[in-house]
Amino acid sequence: MTDQIPTDDLPFPHRHLLGTQNLSRDDIQRILDLSEGYVDHNRQRGNRRLDLAGRTQINLFFENSTRTLTSFELAGKRLGADVINMNTEVSSTKKGETLIDTAMTLNAMHPDILVVRHPASGAVALLSQKVDCAVVNAGDGKHEHPTQALLDALTIRRRLHRLEGLKIAICGDVAHSRVARSNIHLLNTMGARVRVIAPPTLLPTGIAQLGVETYTDMRAGLEDVDVVMMLRLQRERMTGSFLPSVREYYHFYGLDHEKLAFAKDDALIMHPGPMNRGVEIDTDVADDIHRSVIREQVEMGVAVRMAVLELLTPKYGNGAPV
Ligand code: NCD
Repeated sequence: MTDQIPTDDLPFPHRHLLGTQNLSRDDIQRILDLSEGYVDHNRQRGNRRLDLAGRTQINLFFENSTRTLTSFELAGKRLGADVINMNTEVSSTKKGETLIDTAMTLNAMHPDILVVRHPASGAVALLSQKVDCAVVNAGDGKHEHPTQALLDALTIRRRLHRLEGLKIAICGDVAHSRVARSNIHLLNTMGARVRVIAPPTLLPTGIAQLGVETYTDMRAGLEDVDVVMMLRLQRERMTGSFLPSVREYYHFYGLDHEKLAFAKDDALIMHPGPMNRGVEIDTDVADDIHRSVIREQVEMGVAVRMAVLELLTPKYGNGAPV
């Protein structure tokens, strides 16, 4: 089985993965095709490979994370890389070192890949300009989270066998969501029709310029969609009062079976996690074994991250432009 994963030795035309905005259709297809092989591979026991043997991957997370950090760690280890998780709670950043100084320090240790999560939008791109290795954005503020959009696309493609022409609703706290932004770029590039549904206070200004239809009513927005992507209410990023109450939010925007009935009968239910049951999603809907693919998203995450790590660490160095 291991041998059936297509080897991909062509140069990947990007040195870093900072977002989905600059990925072409070919880039996205290539990442998804390579990921497919890893999905099968990961379902077997003894699934360690040696593609990244001798390579060093440092995961530098300045924000809490459960699934993304674990997923990147597993992905690197399954490819045989030496993986180090930098705990910023105990690192020098807590002693006042700047992000760039931390990056330069790590750079001096010659890693091959830095996987970075940071609360400030644009911080990961800035860091990528200061280091010699490949940088993967694991989420920067409200900006982008490219591997989440790629794993979402893989999940949809495996279930519905295409992305083109699908109607996809992204619902909830769009204003604070890097997941929404990365998904909008990727899905538009792949020819899907994206809608966002949110209360007016959680719709970022200029959202229509990203090429989406906007709705403030769940029932109207969910009409006839193929995929319903729910977002967490990111209260940690809210600086003012965006909502009257969580109860009212659930009433109007929480996904339950009654609202879901407006979507196609076999519409997929997705959520990047962590989920707030009873806030943006009803427990029965989240656990609906026929329609919820939330666990599958987590599984696809490891495969997609393996593909990304492999493409950004080509065997003969990465001379690709940024
Ligand atoms: C998302 C994130 O961190 O942006 N989570 C994730 O990566 N799985 C979404 C969220 O925190 O709500």
